[in-house]
Amino acid sequence: MIKRIVVIPGDGIGKEVIAEAVKVLHAIGGVQLEQLPWGADHYLQTGVTIPADGFDTLRSFDAILIGALGDPRVPGNEHARDILLGTRFELDLYVNYRPVRLLDDRLSPLKNRTRKDVNFVVFRENTEGLYVGVGGRFKPGTDDEIAIQEEINTYKGVHRIVRHAFEYARANGLKKVCMADKSNAMTHGHALWQRVFKQLKVEYADIEATHMYIDALAMFMVQNPAQFEVIVTNNLFGDIITDIGGALQGGLGMAASGNVHPGRTSMFEPVHGSAPPLAGKNVANPIGAILSAALMLEILGRTDEAARIERAVEGAVHAGDVTQDIGGALGTAQAGEAIRKRL
Ligand code: NAD
Ligand code: IPM
Ligand code: MN
Repeated sequence: MIKRIVVIPGDGIGKEVIAEAVKVLHAIGGVQLEQLPWGADHYLQTGVTIPADGFDTLRSFDAILIGALGDPRVPGNEHARDILLGTRFELDLYVNYRPVRLLDDRLSPLKNRTRKDVNFVVFRENTEGLYVGVGGRFKPGTDDEIAIQEEINTYKGVHRIVRHAFEYARANGLKKVCMADKSNAMTHGHALWQRVFKQLKVEYADIEATHMYIDALAMFMVQNPAQFEVIVTNNLFGDIITDIGGALQGGLGMAASGNVHPGRTSMFEPVHGSAPPLAGKNVANPIGAILSAALMLEILGRTDEAARIERAVEGAVHAGDVTQDIGGALGTAQAGEAIRKRL
């Protein structure tokens, strides 16, 4: 069955890296792609971030592939909030799936760490936490200003992401799940994470369930990443540690992600943003976007094709046929081509 994919290149380098991912998908076949122009240009021209029926449009596809949103001409970032965060919330994409896998020893930023040391998955809760936009500003712009941003943690929301982390570990033969929170300081919200984790881990006696405070976990990701197999954490902490995860893979340009609701239309995107300083220069690394397309095929059940893309990316990385950020000499388009010719 042909899968129908909607592609939103978005802003900045998003457009350039998605163009390469799209060419990879065409080379793989079995997909029908449609493109939407949503992003900063579209918003500045029309005043519309996402049309009223936009989420229904997205839901009518099998999957969404998106580049990045963020543009200096939209300092309030409202289009990214409506399109990117809006889709995560409206389509209830509660699993932010962010693998951290070093593809070549040469790319390790850590001395004496190799591929075998950096291979884990982060599950970031993707529909609540500090991202829900609950709060407000009182007397803004004055010396009496009060700014409130509430963190929402629900039993259902925490339970389903922690459950997903354990289920993923079990399905993939992994033996360790580490939950990270800040329950020593956030004694209300993160006490709920503690309760849920303790409740669920007894159902997974085959898996070693550990806990770390997020500050210590950030330190251990750098000092001893080999200890991790599956990490599960909240929305904001997951955002922050997956940029560290990007660095562990050789740079943010390498990191892929999926925003998933199992069984429903899900959205795939590189972890990086629109990188305005790099935009339009044919220098951005397309691997994060291409591996996100592979994650999309994996979630759509096309595991063989996903693995083919991963092998082609690894081949290009081993040969050094890559962009400058990871030590190569190729432009974005040429690096994409180097991957396609290895498919
Ligand atoms: P960024 O991820 O865009 O870039 C940070 C730095 O990482 C870049 O300057 C560059 O040095 C490096 N980098 C990122 N992607 C790369 C690639 N493909 N190849 C080579 N190097 C790469 O983060 P930022 O500068 O903080 O944010 C820029 C804009 O993007 C902001 O508007 C931000 O809100 C937005 N953003 C969007 C998303 C998204 O749409 N998913 C994610 C992160 C940031
Ligand atoms: C990400 C991005 C987004 C986030 C921004 C653009 C709102 O950093 O996908 O990692 O914080 O989730
Ligand atoms: Mn981020």
